[in-house]
Amino acid sequence: MSDFTVPTQVQILQQTSQLKALMTIIRAKDTPRADFIFYADRIIRLLVEEGLNHLPVVDKHVTTPTGVEYTGIDFKGRICGVSIMRAGEAMEQGLRDCCRSVRIGKILIQRDEETAQPKLYYAKLPKDIASRYVLLLDPMLATGGSAIQAVQVLLDHNVAEDKIIFLNLISAPEGISAFVAKYPKIKIVTGEIDGGLDTHKYIVPGVGDFGCRCVGTG
Ligand code: URA
Repeated sequence: MSDFTVPTQVQILQQTSQLKALMTIIRAKDTPRADFIFYADRIIRLLVEEGLNHLPVVDKHVTTPTGVEYTGIDFKGRICGVSIMRAGEAMEQGLRDCCRSVRIGKILIQRDEETAQPKLYYAKLPKDIASRYVLLLDPMLATGGSAIQAVQVLLDHNVAEDKIIFLNLISAPEGISAFVAKYPKIKIVTGEIDGGLDTHKYIVPGVGDFGCRCVGTG
């Protein structure tokens, strides 16, 4: 990431020693599947908590058991999650852990073998999605191709661009640049920005294939 200027739309998680230790575990090639899932979940919860910080709030006053008023805040809008299948589904539990009974939609985009272009195969979204803030879930932002296509699906369902927050554990400068150029109003919350992509479009150093690591085939 040496000469990459991080766009203002991108919020990198605070680089604490906790986060670095979690990243070290999930990046190690010999980490067993169960540990990979457990520690990736911990990072996902941090991403969700940071994503929620970008929602609008209103003042809220409550009275504590001491009888004294506390001046706090409440979230103004409602949220939902949308996972980009299949790897994004691994982020659903982390979202549920932070937001009880949150609605979660799914989008499946795959490469069309004939055209080599990303193609929409499936979309199931909450009916009232246009009135919600959307936390878009995909663990790895590599080229940005699937994420860009997934956002188009959300826009086609009348979700406003500035009501989408894209969460991912690890991103590549190439993906960030492509995504931000297309959707400048969308906030990206990411755990770390890596050096770039290899010839197979994997993020390096990365974690390898995130989906395969979750099912134990990678
Ligand atoms: N998807 C993955 O699972 N890993 C990468 O490095 C890039 C895309």
